[in-house]
Amino acid sequence: MTAVHVDRPPRFAATVRLLHWAMAIMVIAQLVVGALMVTTLDHYHLLRAVHVPLGVAILALVMVRIGNRLVGRTPAPPATMRPVERRAATASEYLLYGLLVIQPLTGWAMLSAGGYPITLFQHLHLPPLLVPEPTAYALLRQSHTMLGYLLFFTFTAHMCAVLFHTLVLRDGLLRRMAPSRTNRARRTGP
Ligand code: HEM
Repeated sequence: MTAVHVDRPPRFAATVRLLHWAMAIMVIAQLVVGALMVTTLDHYHLLRAVHVPLGVAILALVMVRIGNRLVGRTPAPPATMRPVERRAATASEYLLYGLLVIQPLTGWAMLSAGGYPITLFQHLHLPPLLVPEPTAYALLRQSHTMLGYLLFFTFTAHMCAVLFHTLVLRDGLLRRMAPSRTNRARRTGP
């Protein structure tokens, strides 16, 4: 008789996977909208009306994600990952979380220091984080750009590492975070 074993690699919880993919899409969209805002003047106000609430939503979701990470269970990494790789992966993950907190706060503080309203939707505004101050505005404006680049490079490095594991090492790393279960049936026996 032929036995069929189904490989079920450990996975992150469904809520973590949902948050992960939702945030990945939101962060990519946010970086594109941010870059378009400063390169095209045609739709500046429309893009800003998207950029600010999207950035605040990312801030709220990353807080949920960090809370989830602190109390939730993390599946064991695949055996193909050496200890040094595991440490690098954890460090880059913390860096991403940190940037996703700091970047929106920098944007919020920047608009506050510039004396601009922080509009979420029509007449719904967030309170300013700082009093208007031109030097602080200039510093925060530059920081928002630099952190945007750092976020882009960290995000890209994260994606390259996952693709390397998935396509070259074929250790199923991506399946831990896959939106749905892709069962690999493995036949044993005669
Ligand atoms: C994860 C969240 C965020 C990301 C990834 C992000 C990214 C960016 C990027 C890449 C730029 C273009 C910078 C440049 O090339 O100089 C930008 C511009 C800008 N961001 Fe953000 N941002 C985020 C959140 C926010 C938030 C929450 C606010 C405000 C509350 C904000 C306000 C702005 C403004 C006003 C500009 C344009 C500044 C100008 O016109 O001079 N951002 N953002």
